[in-house]
Amino acid sequence: MSDRILNASFRSKIMSADEAAALISSGAAIGSSGFTPAGAPKAVPVALAKRAAAAREAGEDFKVGVWTGASTGPSVDGAIAGAGAMSFRMPYQGDTNCRKGINSGEIDYVDMHLSHAAPFAAAGFLGKLDYAIIEIVGVTEDGRLIPSTSVGNNATWIDLADKVILEVNEFQTTDLEGMHDIYRPAMPPHRLPIPIVKPSDRIGEPCFRVDPKKVVAVVNTNASDICAPFTPADQTSQTIANNILEFLTHEVKKGRLPQNLLPLQSGVGNVANAVMAGLQHGAFEHLTAYTEVLQDGTLDLLLSGKLDCASTTSLTFSPEAQAKFLANSKALKSKIILRPQELSNNPELIRRMGLITMNALIEADIYGNVNSTHIQQGTAMMNGIGGSGDFARNAYISMFMTPSTAKGGAISCIMPMVTHVDHTEHDVHVLVTEQGLADLRGLSPKKRAKLIIENCAHPKFRPALQEYYDRALRLSPGKHTPHLLEEVYSFMPRWFAEHGEK
Ligand code: COA
Repeated sequence: MSDRILNASFRSKIMSADEAAALISSGAAIGSSGFTPAGAPKAVPVALAKRAAAAREAGEDFKVGVWTGASTGPSVDGAIAGAGAMSFRMPYQGDTNCRKGINSGEIDYVDMHLSHAAPFAAAGFLGKLDYAIIEIVGVTEDGRLIPSTSVGNNATWIDLADKVILEVNEFQTTDLEGMHDIYRPAMPPHRLPIPIVKPSDRIGEPCFRVDPKKVVAVVNTNASDICAPFTPADQTSQTIANNILEFLTHEVKKGRLPQNLLPLQSGVGNVANAVMAGLQHGAFEHLTAYTEVLQDGTLDLLLSGKLDCASTTSLTFSPEAQAKFLANSKALKSKIILRPQELSNNPELIRRMGLITMNALIEADIYGNVNSTHIQQGTAMMNGIGGSGDFARNAYISMFMTPSTAKGGAISCIMPMVTHVDHTEHDVHVLVTEQGLADLRGLSPKKRAKLIIENCAHPKFRPALQEYYDRALRLSPGKHTPHLLEEVYSFMPRWFAEHGEK
């Protein structure tokens, strides 16, 4: 461990995860590293969860608030929420235990645009941050911290927290040193333009700075990021990806996109990977990415030379891709830039560079409004809005993609009206399902409805959606956005009643 910690004052604070967890009191607000499981602390939150479980057995209540970059995985959300020790959570999660706690009313969850999290915290809107628990790769001689596989909000948590606990993860390669670009925009009224004009620009420092007096513990770990294994795209994801690739080719032909496209942002999951795999075999060269999560498909594009550069805040690789990354980490150093999420998701930069964004959804309505977060008729949380709002609102072309049905074909993902709106009709330029693609740009609501029903809805639900729309049109003639409000949310129950399915 000592060759990873080159500063003596940090070496003197080395202790076990249990000892570090013992420093944290119930009621504390903790800023944790982790944007997806990448770069999440592996040991101290697990020790904290153990401590909370023991306290509960002894009849005491032990709970903490958890602030992160985005989702974190089993070592943070899984452990702390699993022990019933989480009272508050922001700004995003994707964990089963955490979701259960949120939807049973045990956890107060603030679902936020990810670019807002750091400035909200810095402005004091969220109260005081007591601890930061941050995974790093090492400490330099002059006491600066080499970031790990994600940056997220770490720079902000380190600055704001009263006390800092560091996990030095020896599993993470030291080749990560130099891949990061750490820069914190000033707060209003002192904020200046952020001088990034293309994904490869670097404007900050490679390391975090920390006041050494705030560092109360340094813990050794040696564990890989716990990211999900790669699953090959199923037929539906592949067809959605093909529809997107065909659309991009068409836009280039029309002269509305340059030959090497514009910087790409893609959400996580199968479809995003399938789009990237499609680009691997397509005609586009010298691509760039400005995104928040870099997955397997994007890594392959970097390695094949199709993608010149990728800017991100997190390296979310399957175990197979982690191995590929480790084998090529030196060569990738000049091609990958890891930045704070306040920059990777920054509206000013997204609008300036003109991103092509691709995000998944839960349901869309016939006019193009999108629900990315809520299930059970808009009452229960799935994950959160994540970065989708940062990207969609400011994109050059904002695409949303989904299978046309969910739950094994039982539910339509195209509905008369969404039960919760994350992205309004104004932020959804293109809607894509395996049935086809609806280019909504420049279309009035009625034209959008026609296209979405015809091109995106599943044939099983298309006639019922068409019938709803025709009736709404007839019963509210001349209206800008025809609706039958008394029946918008009973579409599926009425469909089941008529077709005898559930
Ligand atoms: N009604 C009910 N449930 C639905 C649904 C619908 N219309 N559409 C999807 N779901 C459920 C699925 O059944 C699945 O639940 P399960 O795991 O219990 O089976 C879950 O939502 C995830 O759907 P899936 O089809 O597996 O897609 P996904 O893993 O790509 O996730 C989102 C889709 C929308 C939930 C996910 O992309 C997300 O959380 N997005 C918001 C954050 C974001 O966009 N970030 C962008 C940058 S990374």
